[in-house]
Amino acid sequence: MTFASGECHNILAIETSCDDTCAAVVTDDGEIRSNVISSQGIHDRYGGVVPEIASRHHLELANLAVDDALERAGITLDDVGSVAVAQGPGLVGALLVGVATAKGIAAARGLPLVPVDHLQGHVAANFLEPDPFEPPFLCLIASGGHTFLAEVTDHSSFTVLGQTLDDAAGEAFDKGARLLGLPYPGGPALERLARDGDPTAVDFPVGRDRGLSFSFAGLKTSLLYKLRDEQQSVKKEDLAASYQHALIEQLARRTETALRQTGHTRLAVGGGVAANGPLRERLAQLGVELKVPPRELCTDNAAMIAGAARFAEPVAFPDYLSLDAYATGERGL
Ligand code: KG4
Ligand code: ZN
Repeated sequence: MTFASGECHNILAIETSCDDTCAAVVTDDGEIRSNVISSQGIHDRYGGVVPEIASRHHLELANLAVDDALERAGITLDDVGSVAVAQGPGLVGALLVGVATAKGIAAARGLPLVPVDHLQGHVAANFLEPDPFEPPFLCLIASGGHTFLAEVTDHSSFTVLGQTLDDAAGEAFDKGARLLGLPYPGGPALERLARDGDPTAVDFPVGRDRGLSFSFAGLKTSLLYKLRDEQQSVKKEDLAASYQHALIEQLARRTETALRQTGHTRLAVGGGVAANGPLRERLAQLGVELKVPPRELCTDNAAMIAGAARFAEPVAFPDYLSLDAYATGERGL
């Protein structure tokens, strides 16, 4: 977004696509002034996100998160130039709370509203200060709902080169963790358990070569059978480490193939799984220039939504009042 006066504006961003209620203030130069993430701990007792419960909690937390983001940024709504919000993909009921909150604030203040694609947000986390990574680059996005490789040649779009045919990488972490008796979200818990295990203990499938597509469903089934057939003989730490190893290998190998095929020599990552330490280490070995955002910008957050809004078209009042949330985007993601 550009402003005629040349002065710097604050973007207030809201993100409620899953179970984190997020609000952030980012300048249109990409400097993060606050980034509030309120995680709804309630879902762990169900072993996954319950959409209706997520929506209700967003309702309770959205305004508080916005107030907190403004306070931490040291500003008031008087200092906000535009409101950005994640419109989809995600849980529609959850997204609608963020969209309604954003509409309400924008309309009350006569501000423009910038609808943002959540996945564009994960890509745009790489554009934020203090260490922005400029296109062109190859981008691996691996989250709880999506896993894909994309070519990024500008700040406002990306082209998908390959995606998962079944589960997302984060989903595979969560399902594997659940089988191992770990709490939700499974990724961080499985990573912790795997630290004391041997990644070569069990030979889990890395996935058949499917070009640039991913597949994690077979890996999860292998773990299920392993647990059923050899419950006593293999340590849980070893199972976790081997499972994580196979998952990371598939992500890294497909990424390596995409780098080779496209000729890109610069790689960026995003999505919750990109917070995984061993994955970050493995990608660092690919021998290309690597951008890994800080962990809090990999998992869902509103700063990345503002990051994408910087390069998106704002919608003027009252046109945005009819804006809707979407579960699946136009790319089929
Ligand atoms: O991007 P994200 O916060 O939300 C979605 O858009 O889905 O990603 C959440 C996913 C969850 O599946 C979670 O288990 C996974 O990211 N995750 C991790 C780690 N931290 C979060 N997976 C592996 N290792 C981690 N450290
Ligand atoms: Zn996400």
